[in-house]
Order: sequence, then C-alpha cells, then structure tokens
Amino acid sequence: MTAVRLDAARLLDRAQGLADLLVDTVAGGASIGFLAPLDRAEAVAWWRERADAVAAGHLAVWAAHDGGRVVGTVSLAFPGKPNSRHRAELVKLMVHHDMRGQGLGRRLLDTAERAAVAAGVTLLHLDTETDSPAERLYRATGWTRAGVIPAYAASPQGVLRPTSLYYKQIARIDLG
Ligand SMILES: CC(C)(COP(=O)(O)OP(=O)(O)OC[C@H]1O[C@@H](n2cnc3c(N)ncnc32)[C@H](O)[C@@H]1OP(=O)(O)O)[C@@H](O)C(=O)NCCC(=O)NCCS
Repeated sequence: MTAVRLDAARLLDRAQGLADLLVDTVAGGASIGFLAPLDRAEAVAWWRERADAVAAGHLAVWAAHDGGRVVGTVSLAFPGKPNSRHRAELVKLMVHHDMRGQGLGRRLLDTAERAAVAAGVTLLHLDTETDSPAERLYRATGWTRAGVIPAYAASPQGVLRPTSLYYKQIARIDLG
C-alpha cells in the first residue's frame, strides 16, 4: 500500500475519507489536537481548511488507501520564517485502528522523511503524547527525544497529559 501525495484539489476530494480517519483516531484516544467525540462535519471542515496551505506549499499531505477508503495519512508543515527553511514539522500521522500493526505507520513516516530530504530539509521535529504507541514508533525509527513537557495537551477525554518533543536530523538518509 503506497501513500499518495495530495495536491489541494485532491485534498478537497479526499476530505471526507481523511475526516473519517481523523474521527476514528480521536475516538481511539489519540492526542492529536481534538477532544472526543469529534463531529464528522467539523473534521471534514478541518481538512478542507488545509487546502490553502497545501496550495501555498506550506503543507504536504499524504494519504494511503485501501480500496476507496483512506486508511493512513501523514503531513509535513514547512515554517515560513526565513531562518527555518531547513526544517519541517511532522504532523498528523494516523493509521486507521483496524490497519495498525502491519507496518503502515512506519511506511508513512518513511515517505515523509524521504520527501523532506528531497525538498532539502535537514531537520524534522514533532511532538507526541508521552508513552503512546506513536512515541514507540519514533524511537524505533531513529528519532531523538529532546525532552518532555508535563501537562502539555488534553487527551480526547480532557485529561492533561505530558508531551515528548522529538527531532531527527535527516541529511544523511540513503535515498537509494
Ligand atoms: C502511531 C501509529 C501511526 C502507528 O501506526 P502502525 O501502522 O500501527 O505502526 P507500524 O505497524 O508501522 O509499527 C511500527 C513500529 O511502531 C511501534 N508501535 C506501533 N504501534 C505500537 C503499539 N501499539 N505498541 C507498541 N509499539 C508500537 C513498534 O515499534 C512498531 O515496530 P514493529 O512493527 O517492528 O514492532 C498508530 O498507532 C496511530 O495511528 N496512532 C494514533 C494516532 C497517533 O497517535 N499519531 C501520532 C501523533 S504524533
């Protein structure tokens, strides 16, 4: 299953499928910026609002499909500041709950990292809920934990949880 990079038009086209994945992820308890239950219309609107950033080159979004269903996604956010063009933030890595544990999360991460290298990015960073399955994925794929911020973000159930900050220097990734 390969991840396809979505231009703005495709993002708008896939907003419903991406929203279903986001709703599933929040319902599963992942701390990804939303409280549960996440309304589907709100999730669709959130994805549609990303289209301008994609068109402007500030955001890159990939989606993995199984048949017609979006089962995974990952994004890279590129900062606009002149002193930050070498870095990008990895955001919104999600795999549908019934597709987890089969290597899709690892493949989405690899896709984003390779694209970042190709774009001349040398440093990636992210934040993730401490002790989450996602944190174990980042540790297993060479990311370095810079530190932990206590009570950083509320879980979907509204409980404040710590967040781990990670970075990865990617300049020497073998593209072969
Ligand atoms: C994190 C997430 C994307 C992983 O997706 P996935 O497809 O299940 O991941 P993979 O199958 O590629 O697993 C890769 C590695 O991650 C680790 N991992 C993933 N899920 C894990 C779990 N539940 N428990 C322990 N380790 C886990 C393992 O090290 C695994 O390597 P292995 O297969 O060699 O053991 C998925 O759990 C998810 O969507 N979580 C909710 C959203 C989220 O938290 N996103 C991150 C926001 S920063």
